[in-house]
Amino acid sequence: MKPKVFISQKIFDKVVDFVKKDFEVEENQSDIPSPTSFLIQKLQGKAGAIILLTDQIDDPVLSKCPHLKIICNVAVGYNNIDIKACTRRKIMVTNTPGVLDDTTADFTWALLLATARRVVEADQYLRLLKWKRWGLMDFLGYDVHHKVLGICGLGRIGQGVARRAKGFNMRILYTDVSRVASSIEEDLEARFVEKKTLLSESDFVTLHVPLLSETTHYISTAEFSWMKPTSILINASRGPVVDEKALVQALKERKIAGAGLDVYENEPEVEPDLIRMKNVVLTPHIASASHETRLRMTMMAAENLIAGLTGKRPPNLVNPEVLQK
Ligand code: DGY
Repeated sequence: MKPKVFISQKIFDKVVDFVKKDFEVEENQSDIPSPTSFLIQKLQGKAGAIILLTDQIDDPVLSKCPHLKIICNVAVGYNNIDIKACTRRKIMVTNTPGVLDDTTADFTWALLLATARRVVEADQYLRLLKWKRWGLMDFLGYDVHHKVLGICGLGRIGQGVARRAKGFNMRILYTDVSRVASSIEEDLEARFVEKKTLLSESDFVTLHVPLLSETTHYISTAEFSWMKPTSILINASRGPVVDEKALVQALKERKIAGAGLDVYENEPEVEPDLIRMKNVVLTPHIASASHETRLRMTMMAAENLIAGLTGKRPPNLVNPEVLQK
């Protein structure tokens, strides 16, 4: 008998077919996140699951699904899963690191350029047929080239953003819990500074930290007060890293000049004030959403699932402690 697994939302058919070779698959064809009660019902009796970042897996869910051995998240971030509870219950958790770094770094740049050069606002103006003549003073934005880029979190994605910044002749500052290897600093020409220095010296601040209790509201009222009034904040990491109410206030008080956001504190809800602001570019958590990358991420989750349920170590195991005897 093949082990039973659950796929929590609509994913690529190619990946479903791949998983079906080894497992009895139950799939939810919907692309709407399911209520907890549905998730529990579907996870019961399953040995493994492929889930998305909108599926919340906490201890009460796990307590009702005693057969679960592995949960494979189709995302690099796994703040939707209670890892400690999984580890305690000897459930493996996997993620999808690496494959989305360049795609996310590309998108960070799309947000940065769109915000600095008012691309979305200008596009909407034109579509509303408001453009009557060329104007010297129209849609003045901010230069990006030769400016200072502050990167909070110089992990794989942050480094990808830094590499691209070289083409714009930017000066790069970074901050993190610790310094990266000096060879990486030299290669990227990135200077390590404290958070306050980074925020006060950067023209563009881009966030690439994971969501942890220490990084929740990493940027809040005090941090905005350190930033330049001409600076722009970019967030393609996790919403709660920025205190969204403090961001609205900072934009209203012109403590910063604009923001490019792909993630929000209470997705899919967005602070209504942000929606009304023209100096803010908003996208619906799509930084890794290219055809190629989303397929690779999903296939990676499937490979982790197969490894975990066939007695091998899943390549992207987040909680290796579960394998200790
Ligand atoms: C992730 O992988 O964590 C992104 O937020 C979604 O691709």
